[in-house]
Amino acid sequence: MKKRPSAKPLSENKHLLRWVEKMVELCKPAAVHWVDGSHEEYESLCADLVDSGTFIKLNEKLWPGCYYARSDATDVARVEDRTFICSLSKDAAGPTNNWVNPFEMRKKLRHLFHGCMAGRTMYVLPFSMGPIGSPMSQIGVQLTDSPYVVVNMRIMARIGLPVFKEIDRAEKRVVPCMHSVGAPLKPGDKDVPWPCNREKYIVHFPETREIWSYGSGYGGNALLGKKCFALRIASNMARDEGWMAEHMLILGVENPTGEKTYVAAAFPSACGKTNFAMMIPPAPFKKKGWKVWTVGDDIAWIKPDAHGRLHAINPEAGFFGVAPGTSVKTNPNAMATLAKNTIFTNVALTPEGGVWWEGMTDGPPPKLIDWQGHEWTPDIAQQTGAKAAHPNARFTAPASQCPTIDPAWEDPNGVPISAIIFGGRRATTMPLVFQGFNWSTGVYIGATMGSEMTAAAAGTIGKVRRDPMAMLPFCGYHMGDYFRHWITMQKRLSETPRVFHVNWFRKGTDGKFLWPGFGENMRVLKWIVDRARGRALGKETPIGWVPRYEDIDWSGLEFPKEQFEELQHFDRTLWRAEVMGHEELFLDLHDHLPKEMVYERELLICRM
Ligand code: GTP
Ligand code: SPV
Ligand code: MN
Repeated sequence: MKKRPSAKPLSENKHLLRWVEKMVELCKPAAVHWVDGSHEEYESLCADLVDSGTFIKLNEKLWPGCYYARSDATDVARVEDRTFICSLSKDAAGPTNNWVNPFEMRKKLRHLFHGCMAGRTMYVLPFSMGPIGSPMSQIGVQLTDSPYVVVNMRIMARIGLPVFKEIDRAEKRVVPCMHSVGAPLKPGDKDVPWPCNREKYIVHFPETREIWSYGSGYGGNALLGKKCFALRIASNMARDEGWMAEHMLILGVENPTGEKTYVAAAFPSACGKTNFAMMIPPAPFKKKGWKVWTVGDDIAWIKPDAHGRLHAINPEAGFFGVAPGTSVKTNPNAMATLAKNTIFTNVALTPEGGVWWEGMTDGPPPKLIDWQGHEWTPDIAQQTGAKAAHPNARFTAPASQCPTIDPAWEDPNGVPISAIIFGGRRATTMPLVFQGFNWSTGVYIGATMGSEMTAAAAGTIGKVRRDPMAMLPFCGYHMGDYFRHWITMQKRLSETPRVFHVNWFRKGTDGKFLWPGFGENMRVLKWIVDRARGRALGKETPIGWVPRYEDIDWSGLEFPKEQFEELQHFDRTLWRAEVMGHEELFLDLHDHLPKEMVYERELLICRM
């Protein structure tokens, strides 16, 4: 089964060949392998990863086709403070991005990458973000010394021969993506299961559309098609070309008459996109014929069609989902999706060769190996507080395995978007749902979004930070210019989507969530869809339109009116503080802030 690295170039594109040659000279790998993307190649790479100790093959009966990896304890999430937007001017990157002069950064990178792949294989990995050949798709080639990255990318994107063919055929501009774990091997060195470097650099050059990532093998740091390309570089392309690259899930709601309405929703990392995208409506809704279809769970590329209607594609082909909290109760679709052909990273291992994570079952199994390879029992956990799975443990699973995957999820022209939903994780202040009055209020609502920080990135967990459109870590240029781009998009549209804000995470005085969430979010989604279609009532408040108790379909759920009022409560004092928070963000962005944002803020204050 095992194959030797295949050094034979699989493309005839002169630019690509020359670039690979140059990078081989720089990184000095022991071998080069052109990735064809075949199943045999995948199997052979996984077998290599098992041999090298990076992968453990899971019990084939329980978890067919699945593998398990544990990362280094210092390499468990995106590193936002090591992420750089190296535009020519600092002003173009804006105050919310780390900026280093590109000439200086290139010098630094040349030094870091010099000989960085010694003793390793360099993989030439072509990938398409979006269905191959779609007018909305983009192509990249990642050079990486991590076979773990190659097998994950095979799930997350379309890779291999068909992409090389597209590069040769269309002579399409390709985004070069350099990646090294930064752990060269000298002759005789023994490799470790998770090579990485304490020094990490996740670097983007927006003008030349390049990505250089060094030192990490984890998630968004290393799978360069995802956050680096599909958001940070693509947001630059989108601004220049009149479309939008957003940190959004896409789902389709089918109502009992068979009418389908697609919505896109931006929630920050680990705030519920995957869960919302795969939601299963409560039983009484299902019985009536409501159904939710999944198009994407993390990223949306949105473009006006010839008639001025926004259409969205999911540029990805897989889900890189948060494992903890995922269960048959909370997200049965995700559980079905990850049941086979999935790679698990930093979850816990069971004695039967299966996986477990906090929240997967009601109680923990009696004995586990935790994400750091230590023995774990509920007793030990009680004493030390050690989690069996890392809070940012993830599964990498093919989207095609999702039971609710939308029939149109690979439509090259995307699906029409009728509503945009913003949402964060907020214990106070923000109601369950409200609707902006119009596009510019909607943009203001997205721009001023706040959320408590999660384990998806290194930082202080629980602290509220402004995360405009859930794009704070992902916008590849000045956030003020990004707001302007949102505002100007309206001029290209014949029909603007309605804009909403949701919060599944408001807590009562007892510290418990006031809202059951997950499948019950369908009740909110139904109101949103009906509002977007112009057939549901609401009440006007200072912040926007809200549903009254009787505007929500409560069938099958006993939810007292008082609790709903508490959930929706508009607290003037808290909102004063909230608006001050908006102002702080605006102060940072002031010299690029579109005037609409300032007016919207004034109007909000007047209404309050
Ligand atoms: P990224 O992949 O990091 O972008 O995250 P995501 O936005 O896809 O978040 P995900 O759906 O994976 O959810 C993250 C966490 O939020 C999980 O622990 C979920 O159990 C929890 N969660 C999701 N939806 C809800 C909800 O409606 N209510 C509550 N209380 N928790 C939720
Ligand atoms: C996120 O953090 O928003 C993710 C995970 O989706 S990662 O791919 O690591 O960015
Ligand atoms: Mn995400």
